[in-house]
Amino acid sequence: MSPPAPVIDGETPSGTPRLLIEFPPAASADNAADVSAITELVNRVFIEGEAGIWNNGYVRTSDAEVADLIRKGQLAVARLASPAATSAKELLGRKGRLVGCVCVKQNSGSMCTLSMLALDKTYQGLGLGREMFQFVEDYCLSLGCTTLGLDILVPTTYDHPLKTRMQAWYKRRGFRETRLADFAEEYPALAPLLRGPVVYRVFEKKLR
Ligand SMILES: CC(C)(COP(=O)(O)OP(=O)(O)OC[C@H]1O[C@@H](n2cnc3c(N)ncnc32)[C@H](O)[C@@H]1OP(=O)(O)O)[C@@H](O)C(=O)NCCC(=O)NCCS
Repeated sequence: MSPPAPVIDGETPSGTPRLLIEFPPAASADNAADVSAITELVNRVFIEGEAGIWNNGYVRTSDAEVADLIRKGQLAVARLASPAATSAKELLGRKGRLVGCVCVKQNSGSMCTLSMLALDKTYQGLGLGREMFQFVEDYCLSLGCTTLGLDILVPTTYDHPLKTRMQAWYKRRGFRETRLADFAEEYPALAPLLRGPVVYRVFEKKLR
């Protein structure tokens, strides 16, 4: 008998999704344990991913914000699919470990923005981020959006390897830098926690 298709270490030969990504129902915003698990994941991933950018005391999000985003249907959650799953029905029946999330907001009829894209470090670099991004783009198209936007905070005085990689990735995915934003103006409460000078780059992609 052949072994089950690998899920984490590389693409599944069948192209089976390795993640279950969905917007939790609004009622799950009242489940304190579920909300805290997402908050903890996001804060851990961003503290690791943005190491060097922030002073002590910075956290990316809070339980209140996560609950609010869930209630508004703006936070998609990614869980590991079953390694042995071969059908969509089987995948749905085996919801697994929480590994990531992404916030998607429809700003206007034609424009969506993505933020808080986070994947557990254990599962980074394996193509799961790509799966999450594809989900976001498909979702935005389903809303009738033609443009997807995102921001990236980049230190100006040194090369931050993850930020450099992310910018290159966004460009490979068809995003173009459209403008520089003023981080301090948009997030005045967070600006004092920055460790050094940054540039806040806005990227956009035409979805169709
Ligand atoms: C952003 C994030 C979700 C991406 O997830 P991931 O699992 O690392 O993504 P993938 O494995 O799908 O890789 C994404 C791209 O980076 C490339 N890549 C992966 N590891 C790499 C590495 N070490 N060096 C260079 N490129 C790399 C992949 O080839 C892929 O590009 P491709 O789709 O053109 O082939 C994840 O890195 C993360 O949570 N980072 C911390 C939080 C963060 O920075 N969020 C975004 C804020 S702007």
